Amino acid sequence: MTQHEDNLGGAAIRPAPVDSGAFLQVRELRVHFPTDDGVVRSVDDLSFSVDRGKTLGIVGESGSGKSVTSLSIMGLHKRGTAKITGEILLDGQNLVGMSPERVRLLRGKRMAMIFQDPLSAMHPFYSVGSQIIEAYRIHNKVTKAVARKHAIDLLDRVGIPNPKSRVDDYPHQFSGGMRQRAMIAMALSCDPELLIADEPTTALDVTVQAQILDLIRDLQAEFNSAVVIITHDLGVVAELADDIMVMYAGRAVEYSTAADIFNSPQHPYTWGLLGSMPRLDRERTERLQPIKGTPPSLINVPEGCPFNPRCAYAGTNGDLSFTVRPEFRDVGGGHHIACHLGAEDRLRIWDTEIRPKL
Ligand SMILES: Nc1ncnc2c1ncn2[C@@H]1O[C@H](COP(=O)(O)OP(=O)(O)OP(=O)(O)O)[C@@H](O)[C@H]1O
Ligand code: SF4
Ligand SMILES: [Mg+2]
Repeated sequence: MTQHEDNLGGAAIRPAPVDSGAFLQVRELRVHFPTDDGVVRSVDDLSFSVDRGKTLGIVGESGSGKSVTSLSIMGLHKRGTAKITGEILLDGQNLVGMSPERVRLLRGKRMAMIFQDPLSAMHPFYSVGSQIIEAYRIHNKVTKAVARKHAIDLLDRVGIPNPKSRVDDYPHQFSGGMRQRAMIAMALSCDPELLIADEPTTALDVTVQAQILDLIRDLQAEFNSAVVIITHDLGVVAELADDIMVMYAGRAVEYSTAADIFNSPQHPYTWGLLGSMPRLDRERTERLQPIKGTPPSLINVPEGCPFNPRCAYAGTNGDLSFTVRPEFRDVGGGHHIACHLGAEDRLRIWDTEIRPKL
């Protein structure tokens, strides 16, 4: 809650969409990095939840705090670098403040992550197979032979050809797409109940992208895991996500079902993201233009709405967008936005200016 909102009558701010029964619940998460230039507010009051069997898509431009959020859940920030407050409840246990040893035990067994860059998650000097075997044996008291068989099965599952021989290859012997698959195999080695996939398809060609997303979907169906897919590209989560959270400058700006986000988005930033999605059937000139400008520094976030320097509608309500941070609120049926535009304005703009150009 900002000082401004406090001053506006002190009405209780509705919490963001957190289902109190969900497997993962993130509540009022703040991740700040003190640096020589000032405090980087990478995540600033973020709340969301994901239940078993469900997929949440987190979407936002580069630097919006997506990876910092996932690394916080996994307990993977370098010790002492990040100041983390709020709650991250995994099946009811709060991970914030938990000892690194206990979080390490949960990682792999109950939660796992597919990283943006597979090479960063794999050790270059150990074979792919030995890394999967290692991950599996940390949590399962099995012989090396059993773990090796499990690794080969997993590589087969994720579509690595000749897994029996490729299991002994080193990461550099795999192509980008195969490394991504191998990392998925590693992440899935202990059937995690929560899987976070951070840009699982960036840098892969379109066919491999589709295969990787299909794979995540199949594995989720099999294990009934809670899945978070992080991407800067709304297209990636269009078919996969049940719900979508759009992030800007370390905060949620819109949250709803995927169908709502695509059919009746209500936040100007989401309109911009939709306008940036590639379309082959229309000339760019007759379409909505991609969002101009760049996201703000997270050390000096603009006063009022952080999106105001880039928003075409910032002047709609006098100087409100420049002075008061918009509350993240329910605008109907659980659809949340953080924007000062009133319902009438939003509908009018969507119907007359945005939808015809998408
Ligand atoms: N250890 C750190 N110290 C200081 N600032 C950091 C640290 N880690 C991340 N940040 C900053 O936090 C912000 C959010 O970074 P994050 O990696 O979460 O972005 P992202 O949404 O994942 O972007 P991308 O789409 O490029 O992966 C960035 O401004 C980044 O520079
Ligand atoms: S609050 Fe104002 S600046 Fe922010 S998105 Fe809404 S209209 Fe644009
Ligand atoms: Mg990232």
